[in-house]
Amino acid sequence: MGLFVTFEGPEGSGKTTQVRLLYASLVKEGLSVVRSREPGGTCIGEQVRAVLHDLGNQGMLPITEALLYSAARAQHVSEVIGPALERDAIVLCDRFAESTFAYQGYGHGLDLEALERITRFATGGLRPDLVVYLDLDVDIGLQRKLQDRREGKGEWNRMDQQSVSFHRRVREGYLTMARQEVDRWLIVDASRSVEEMHESVRARVLSLHALRVRRPHVTCSGGRPEPQ
Ligand code: TMP
Repeated sequence: MGLFVTFEGPEGSGKTTQVRLLYASLVKEGLSVVRSREPGGTCIGEQVRAVLHDLGNQGMLPITEALLYSAARAQHVSEVIGPALERDAIVLCDRFAESTFAYQGYGHGLDLEALERITRFATGGLRPDLVVYLDLDVDIGLQRKLQDRREGKGEWNRMDQQSVSFHRRVREGYLTMARQEVDRWLIVDASRSVEEMHESVRARVLSLHALRVRRPHVTCSGGRPEPQ
């Protein structure tokens, strides 16, 4: 089985740049790599993304958000991520289920256990082998996003408009999850330079990949093999 690496972080943390750089460097190593994003990554998922992020949809309930992000995820896992992992590819995904826990769970206050059940239903239990979390002060991240908006760069979506306290809860949520599963999370200080961050992410992903190649998975009954 391949390697599933997701990138998480608050607004303006530079995830997308890191996904792009890592993708290019792994391809250069001759590895089979797939790059994708959430919400989106499939034709149906991109349509769901448009609904979720439409600035006109101000009345959308948190539970509707959670279900729509999960619906897009179900399509994504079945159409893109699952088949790529079956082909032994490295999958790099810009956001995944941890975004739902952080934003809809910690941010909006939806019940985390309910979100876990919905997520398991949507993903069939697939979880990232590694979550790369780009940690950044919320005010700095939002400033970066506002600056991009003024320069006509990047996307300014409905979620960006949430209050600063919402974004602080999201960050705290990420840090709580990272502390609960230290081996599965790599926390990267996103105030460092793009190159420094890239080097630490690249080193961790390559060493995880080398371990996988040396020690193939033992298949467990019924699901995706457990990481060794
Ligand atoms: P981004 O692609 O620019 O990071 O924007 C995605 C936005 O969607 C971001 O504000 C986080 C939000 N989001 C959720 O709230 N829940 C989710 O499950 C996912 C995947 C994203």
